Amino acid sequence: MLETIKADVIKIYRHRVDRLNHVFGVRDMALKLGKIYGEDLEKIRIVALLHDYTKYESRAYHEALIRQHYHERIIQEYSKPLYHGFSAAVIAKEQYGITDQDMLRAIESHTVGRPNMSRLEKIIFISDYIELNRMYPSCVKAREIAFNNIDLAIYEAINDSINLYERNGGFIPKIAYDARDYYKHKGELNE
Ligand SMILES: [Fe+2]
Ligand SMILES: [Fe+2]
Repeated sequence: MLETIKADVIKIYRHRVDRLNHVFGVRDMALKLGKIYGEDLEKIRIVALLHDYTKYESRAYHEALIRQHYHERIIQEYSKPLYHGFSAAVIAKEQYGITDQDMLRAIESHTVGRPNMSRLEKIIFISDYIELNRMYPSCVKAREIAFNNIDLAIYEAINDSINLYERNGGFIPKIAYDARDYYKHKGELNE
């Protein structure tokens, strides 16, 4: 199955080399973290390859899948740039037959995170932010922290994203604030 998914992802992103590099970057970073934190590496490979599968689909596409497989309220509680976590999880389930809830949730939550994520969710979430193609100082800082204190790195990632969106007047879902508070506390406990 892994080879099929990989071939499909390469096909989807054949005109978007930067996005393909990002997807492979997330996979490679997540595998490094998976070895440190003791996560199933096969699950990591599959989830990382699928996490941005529907990234460039239309609003109508996302909304239809969310209405069909989740709930109308998801559309209100999140915003269009965040819908692809949900629609990609639907693809994982419907197209590739993935039923492992932890894997599906890791795809869903990779955009803004949520409080009390599983180990797999945390690894995918932070790898999306710190993979080696990400050059921003905040990403580099979180990358340095992630190998010792993944919770603190997640706090830094969410905090930076929230600050950026607040400056630009973008929509921030409540769950992002909840996750920031949760990982601030958890990260400090690990210090
Ligand atoms: Fe994404
Ligand atoms: Fe991504």
